Parts: sequence; C-alpha cells; structure tokens
Amino acid sequence: MQPPVTERDVRVEVLGRLDADEVGRIAVLVERATEADGVRPLSEHVALHLRHGGDTPARNVLLYLRAETAAEAPDRLAGYAHLDVTDAVEGPSAELVVDPAHRRRGIARLLLAHVRAESAAASPGGRLRLWSHGGLPAAAAMAEAEGFRGVRALVQLRRSLFAVLPAAALPAGIDVRTFRPGADDAAWVDLNAAAFAAHPEQGRWTLADLHQRMAEPWFDPHGFFVAERSGVLVGFHWTKVHGGDSTAHVHDHLGLHTHDAHGHEPIGEVYVVGVAPAERGHGLGRALTLVGLHHLRSLGLPEAMLYVDADNTAAISLYAGLGFTPWDTDVMFRDGTVRPPS
Ligand SMILES: CC(C)(COP(=O)(O)OP(=O)(O)OC[C@H]1O[C@@H](n2cnc3c(N)ncnc32)[C@H](O)[C@@H]1OP(=O)(O)O)[C@@H](O)C(=O)NCCC(=O)NCCS
Repeated sequence: MQPPVTERDVRVEVLGRLDADEVGRIAVLVERATEADGVRPLSEHVALHLRHGGDTPARNVLLYLRAETAAEAPDRLAGYAHLDVTDAVEGPSAELVVDPAHRRRGIARLLLAHVRAESAAASPGGRLRLWSHGGLPAAAAMAEAEGFRGVRALVQLRRSLFAVLPAAALPAGIDVRTFRPGADDAAWVDLNAAAFAAHPEQGRWTLADLHQRMAEPWFDPHGFFVAERSGVLVGFHWTKVHGGDSTAHVHDHLGLHTHDAHGHEPIGEVYVVGVAPAERGHGLGRALTLVGLHHLRSLGLPEAMLYVDADNTAAISLYAGLGFTPWDTDVMFRDGTVRPPS
C-alpha cells in the first residue's frame, strides 16, 4: 500500500474556468476512474460543460501530487472536485474523483477540506452535499467517514421522443389545462404536499420555493399542466427544457446544478408529476405524464429524462410502462458535521 498523502505532498488549485491542458488532464483522470469503477464519476451535465472549460461560476478543485524530484515529470493530477455554489435553496453541492492508482491515501479527504473551505466562503451557512454516481461502496464509505449521511438515491430514466407515444387517456371528470401563475400557486403547494407526503424533499416545498422556481428564466407555464376535478386541482405535470438556446437548469429541484449556459443538445424533463392521493389508481398519473411528453415532443425535443427516488416503486413502474429506461443512479450525501457557531 502506498503511504498516506499530506498537504505537503500536494499542490491544490481552485479555479473558475479551465484551460485546454487542465480540461485534458481532468478528462484522463475521469477516464481512468470510469475504467476502474465501471461508472462515470461526474454527472453528465458537469462532464459536458467541462469539455468547454467548465461552467461558471462553479469552482474546480485540482489536486496535484508534487513530483518527488526536479528530474521527474511534472506534478500529476491525482484528484478533482467540482463544486457548484449556485443553488440558493438547497445549498452547495460537489462531485469528486480520485485517481484509482492513488486511492486510500487520504486524497479525497484533502480534496474535501478544500471543497468545504470554498463552499463555506461562497455560501456561509449552506450545508454541503456530495453526489456519487452508480452507488459505489467506496463513495459511501468515504462520505460517511467524512461526516456525511446518505439522504437520497435517485434514478435517472430516459426515453426517446421519436418512439411511439400513446395518446393521453384522461379519467372521466378530469380536465387538464396549464398552470395559471398567481391564481394556482397556493392550491398547487397544497396538492404537492399531499402528493409527496412520503417524499419530504419534494413535499415540503413552500409558496416561496414555488415562487423562486417561477422567477427562474426557464420557467414556462405553457409546459406546466394541471388536472382538475370540478374546479379543484388533483394532479399536475411540470415539464422543463434543458439546453439548446434556453437558460435551463438541470436537477434544479434537487439542487444539484444550476447553470446559465448550455453546451449540449436540448432535452425535455419530466420535472415533477404528482397526483392527489384520492385520485390514484385511475390512470391520471400516466395520462398527465403523456400530456407533458406530447408537449415536449411538440417543441421538437428528441428525448425526455426524469429523476425519481430509487424507493418510489410506483412512479418507477409508471415510467417503465411508458418506455423509460435507467440511465444513471445518483446518491446524495449531506454534510452532518455540526460546526460550532463562528
Ligand atoms: C470515493 C473516492 C473519492 C475516495 O477517494 P480516496 O482518495 O481513495 O479516499 P481517502 O483515501 O481520502 O479516504 C478517506 C476515508 O474514506 C473511507 N474510504 C475511502 N475509500 C474506501 C473504501 N474503498 N472502502 C472503505 N472505506 C473507504 C475511509 O474511512 C478512508 O479513511 P482511511 O483510509 O483512513 O480508513 C474514490 O474511490 C473515487 O474517486 N471514486 C469514484 C468517484 C466517486 O464515487 N466519488 C465520490 C463522491 S461522494
């Protein structure tokens, strides 16, 4: 086993945008980790932006092992972390990766110390979250050892919008229209709380949380569908568009990433679907999902994606029945470290 690495053995750079050499070194590191772990260490969104020098105002933390002698090759990139500090609701979030040849030497611990310092400076009081991909045991062990707690596992599912899309069959007595900003806000918050009573991350949204999203540049009420029975809101499907010319945000409701420029193909998202408990079991969720998918298709989008809690078996089977297949699994860890007040 190689000896532990200390601050003296490393050079750490915290950067905004990256130059081509830095992008290249990170790409090699990511490739090596992907080979060794069987899964990519960074989310697709971060990886896509990295190709173009990274997203702003994210922080890139590069950890180099110092060359032992002057005659050696230049310092080697042994660890990388991406820190996003733009989500005011959920707080900062990070993804990190260590070269497989240098694991269990304390590099993740060193990286995290820098990430924590950056995160605290950019977002005082914000509780850092870590995301890991593929549910790797080493990630969970490292996160726990560093005082983080696993709080959520999410599956990303995708579906082509070129493939056959059945028509939406609404249950009797249900009307669908688009969301009316202002008029529907309070009723929607109540419905969302009832629909997600078992999924507090989503279910505890307040009016202020809703308004924050409505103020975002990507918000489009024409893609936000609500179902009514006798004038009462009983279900909804809020869609979203990422990429292309839009200023969309990925994972916004999860607080994973928030960006203002996209370097990738546009994709539609089934952002949130909810049905009132009393209306379940009659095909309303399926019909609302289809209404939204038809809308996304009508915008010319090639594909739809969504995130669902890994334990939400009802939703997963609904989406599987509509042709969605697994694309990625993300596990979120939240910093449980209690810090003394400063
Ligand atoms: C997870 C990962 C970042 C750990 O990097 P690392 O530099 O090997 O981790 P460290 O050496 O700093 O380990 C710190 C502590 O985490 C725990 N830990 C790390 N890897 C572990 C493993 N494979 N098994 C058990 N515990 C582990 C240990 O408690 C370790 O302390 P110790 O070695 O003194 O016992 C690395 O495996 C990786 O890059 N994986 C792919 C990407 C990923 O999953 N990122 C994690 C996002 S949360």
